Amino acid sequence: MTNDTVLKVEDLRVYYYTFAGVVKAVDNVSFDLKKGETMGLAGESGCGKSTLGYSLLNLIPPPGRIAGGHIYVDGLDIANMSEGELRRKVRWKKISMVFQGAMNALTPVYTIGKQMAEPLMIHNGMTYKEAIEKVKEILPKVGLDPVIVNRYPHELSGGMKQRVMIAMALLLNPDVVIADEPTTALDVIVQAQILNLLKTLRKEFGISLILISHDLSIMAEVVEKIAIMYAGKFAEYGYSDDVFRDPKHPYTQGLIKSIPKLTEKGLHYIPGQPPDLRNPPAGCRFADRCPFVFDKCRREEPPMIKLENNRYVSCWLYE
Ligand SMILES: Nc1ncnc2c1ncn2[C@@H]1O[C@H](COP(=O)(O)OP(=O)(O)O)[C@@H](O)[C@H]1O
Ligand code: SF4
Ligand SMILES: [Mg+2]
Repeated sequence: MTNDTVLKVEDLRVYYYTFAGVVKAVDNVSFDLKKGETMGLAGESGCGKSTLGYSLLNLIPPPGRIAGGHIYVDGLDIANMSEGELRRKVRWKKISMVFQGAMNALTPVYTIGKQMAEPLMIHNGMTYKEAIEKVKEILPKVGLDPVIVNRYPHELSGGMKQRVMIAMALLLNPDVVIADEPTTALDVIVQAQILNLLKTLRKEFGISLILISHDLSIMAEVVEKIAIMYAGKFAEYGYSDDVFRDPKHPYTQGLIKSIPKLTEKGLHYIPGQPPDLRNPPAGCRFADRCPFVFDKCRREEPPMIKLENNRYVSCWLYE
């Protein structure tokens, strides 16, 4: 782990142990993130993006749990850490997350100030008065007027609520912030404003950001690195300029083609369905949908193959 690496994930596996079988939601994922770096995590719904996000706080909803691998944060392996230690040392302090849809889960009966003050009181032992002061300090940094501490969630627009969620993720000065589909429920203009805010905060707070989205078109402008996830695995990983300019994995190629363009008529899409993660196929997980599939693909699972410039692709075409 080099000095400027804030997060290192090795062979991470996260499974849901359901009555209907074991869902292999994240299966052998490895990557690392440097200080101040922004990484995108893209892929169709159900490919394991949120599960990977939760696992980086070791906060996977039951019946899920980390089945193997390591997550190093500041040299500590949080994949194998006790609940008490995670709470004391890691969650919100080292890594925080803006959960998918959380802005709609703000408690309607409490003011914004009270809801934002709570984590500071619990995790930092502040008094209510101290916590509210800190909240008022941080609100302008996400473009909100401090007077909203006295407002209730229903008095705020969707964009404002999402800014509150982002502010909450920043309250305890984490090194890494994960934003899970932070713009999905918002209209296009507000989407752009929230993405700009994330970009600015990254610079101002020096945080590393993991932006999760099923929508590739919003990634291109924000992230430096991108991981394309398919059926619980990274299909491709690299600098986003390289990946967008010259996608290597057939799945990435399909995804990029299916971004709607004003200049083109008709929509491309990738035919077929991702595999059932309770029982993924033996070889390449994309084989049933891949236009380039050949014998070996169905027999053996492709490893992550390293290409030039920190680029990785999991496809036999690049062996
Ligand atoms: N609580 C859960 N119990 C069982 N399976 C789950 C649970 N949460 C997610 N999954 C399954 O794990 C896989 C990955 O889900 P998720 O991480 O939510 O994907 P994404 O965020 O990319 O849409 C899916 O197959 C989903 O059905
Ligand atoms: S390994 Fe084979 S099936 Fe999988 S993406 Fe590459 S060519 Fe297609
Ligand atoms: Mg999700």
